[in-house]
Amino acid sequence: MPAKAPVMPVPPPGVTVGRVDALAGLFSREAPLVLDLGCGNGLFLAGLAACEPGWNVLGIEKKEYRVRQARRRAGDLGNARVLHGEVLEVLSSLPPASVSRVYLLFSDPWPKRRHAVRRLVQEEFVALLHSRLEAGGTFFFATDAEEYLAWTQEKLSVNGWRIKGWAVPATWPMTEFEQRFASAGLNIWRLQASR
Ligand SMILES: C[S@@+](CC[C@H](N)C(=O)[O-])C[C@H]1O[C@@H](n2cnc3c(N)ncnc32)[C@H](O)[C@@H]1O
Repeated sequence: MPAKAPVMPVPPPGVTVGRVDALAGLFSREAPLVLDLGCGNGLFLAGLAACEPGWNVLGIEKKEYRVRQARRRAGDLGNARVLHGEVLEVLSSLPPASVSRVYLLFSDPWPKRRHAVRRLVQEEFVALLHSRLEAGGTFFFATDAEEYLAWTQEKLSVNGWRIKGWAVPATWPMTEFEQRFASAGLNIWRLQASR
């Protein structure tokens, strides 16, 4: 008797073979996807989603209590969502060239030289960012640590990123950490990098 051909499982809707689509069912409409990496308590995320109703704004946060705070803030906004998870894992699970803007705001700067390997911005992160941003998509970075800005610029010196300064629209919300740094009179360093 000839051997039976193996039966291939049919993936459920929203799941592609070999990859779970992290976006499946998250937003109720197609719109430019904007990420807030390490969104903390969601102050910026919710404010941005309210200022830019044409965008789908997705926060990614690893601390559960911060996720709860951010989800409460995002409330009824149909264009704001928060995923609980690690930035690198969630970024990896997104389809290539699917993101139009990525915000990394006041990411932990790990100022001691020997701790710099713990910074989120590393070669692996930059390569992933490049692959997930669509052509012409932009990465926005802000920090209170001038050394972290220089580090990030250096990591972005591959793949032809076009780097320039970033003037935040006056109508946009501040992040929680930005409010703290601004009220302490600290300098804030920003860049944007387009692919
Ligand atoms: C210094 S806080 C800044 C929060 C917010 N962006 C702001 O400006 O107010 C950094 C946040 O990033 C989160 N975070 C750090 N590394 C992360 C990672 N690998 N994946 C997800 N969240 C991360 C932390 O839990 C924290 O909430």
